[in-house]
Amino acid sequence: MKTSYSSNVLVAALTIMAFAFAIGVPATDLAPSSTLQIQPASANAARVTVVNAGDQVWIIQRSGDLVNWSELGAWKVHNGSFQSVFSFDASNPNSFFRALYDPSRQDISSTTANALLLPTPSFNYANPPLPPSFHVPPIVGQDNMPATNLTTDAGATLGRVLFYDKRLSINRTLSCSSCHRQEHGFSDPRKFSLGFNGGTTARNAMGLSNGRWYLRRHFFWDERANTLEDQVLQPIQNSVEMGMTLSALTNRLSTEPFYTNLFAAAFGSTEITSDRISRALAQFVRSIVSVRSKYDAGIPIGFANFTAQENLGRQIFLGQIGNATCAACHGTDNFVPGPNINNNGLEYPYVDKGLGGITGLAQDEGLFKVPSLRNIELTAPYMHDGRFATLEEVVEFYNSGVVNNPNLSAPLRVPTPPGALPGPPRRLNLTADQKAALVAFLKTLTDPNLAADPKLSDPFNYGN
Ligand code: HEC
Ligand code: HEC
Repeated sequence: MKTSYSSNVLVAALTIMAFAFAIGVPATDLAPSSTLQIQPASANAARVTVVNAGDQVWIIQRSGDLVNWSELGAWKVHNGSFQSVFSFDASNPNSFFRALYDPSRQDISSTTANALLLPTPSFNYANPPLPPSFHVPPIVGQDNMPATNLTTDAGATLGRVLFYDKRLSINRTLSCSSCHRQEHGFSDPRKFSLGFNGGTTARNAMGLSNGRWYLRRHFFWDERANTLEDQVLQPIQNSVEMGMTLSALTNRLSTEPFYTNLFAAAFGSTEITSDRISRALAQFVRSIVSVRSKYDAGIPIGFANFTAQENLGRQIFLGQIGNATCAACHGTDNFVPGPNINNNGLEYPYVDKGLGGITGLAQDEGLFKVPSLRNIELTAPYMHDGRFATLEEVVEFYNSGVVNNPNLSAPLRVPTPPGALPGPPRRLNLTADQKAALVAFLKTLTDPNLAADPKLSDPFNYGN
């Protein structure tokens, strides 16, 4: 197949794919297809991209006549794609490019220098600057970093590479970041995520901002993972999400020299184990720390930086105006609950039993973890099933739509005297201006620095 792009650029794509399959790479290790893409880069140059999940070396060639080919370079595709810009052949009216797979030329080794773009010295993950409230109760008590896995710069650097590495999925098509996207507060803008094989996750991917701080320590909407160290190995082995086994993963990573270096730097020896993978990923997830929002800037100055509308929203959120009780469940500067897991009245009967699906107890049905509301503006859609597309819909739900059910948490009910039956769901009766103010307040929790922070971004080298 030849795809015409402009008068002097042609792509030969199918021959490449046929070759990749012909050499007998196990089918499960290959993406459905490898492709070559050519785009105009300037008047006399083309951007050539190889998309290839196989972690292979490709020879890039150029020709003016489709007969004589000259080699422009040999690329190792480190993480799904690689690209570079090449000038056209000045001595010919036409330029053609192709990428060849040559089994005898697969010996380019990956190194930390050619596979990754890591700074020297490394980013600071071990001691992130934190506001004063994070150093005292109640927030110090929310910190789930165990003494047995303190975050180090080298450990979180390894975790960052793992988080963005498609090798973690069986067919090398998905990384953690495919469903936890930095620009979306490390969540997925899709209601449900798609796994390595096109399957759909049962719930909405959670944002990961400030996951380090949560009093109950557990992870997932139904809290089925007791610790973050337990949690991070589960998507890798999940049959919908990444479809990998831990032994296949440790074997696969052991063949990459850059991992040997990163594991040695993080843990003192080159050994690659699932325990070390878990520890490094947990260190990176705990490094997703958001403390530079407009809200944070407002704390030391009494929110003098807020608009009148944002301050009205803050007072509604805190229950200082009206009868909303948001802060009872979205409390502290991390906007997380205290000792309880809650039901916020989304539905009855329970389509998703939440914690009850794990414990089998009727009183746990419909109870769900609340991830931090930090960066909530970026993490739409909302709730465990992604049912609300906007914050306006969420606010209207709390205003008028909370559904009564046996496990509805007390703050969302009309209070009744001790011993009396639980009250019906609260109706907030907010005016249109008050609802808009509450949304405006929630948007002050957005931290643009997090969504673009290089220390949390994809470290792989994809060429230029
Ligand atoms: C195919 C999409 C997908 C991939 C890939 C994926 N996740 Fe998730 N993640 C989700 C979904 C969906 C949930 C919520 C699942 C649930 O609660 O049942 C989730 C939940 C989480 C949570 C829980 C957050 C909290 O506050 O409790 C963490 C942490 C997390 N993922 C980290 C990771 C890491 C690390 C990786 C890579 C090893 C990863 N995820 C890969 C979709 C994905
Ligand atoms: C009784 C505790 C409780 C109260 C009070 C409460 N919430 Fe929630 N909130 C929850 C729970 C539990 C969830 C997750 C529910 C789910 O997905 O099943 C949630 C989810 C959310 C989400 C979506 C989070 C996400 O990542 O998708 C937003 C936004 C939110 N609440 C805002 C508010 C606001 C604003 C108020 C006040 C009007 C409020 N909440 C009051 C318990 C509460």
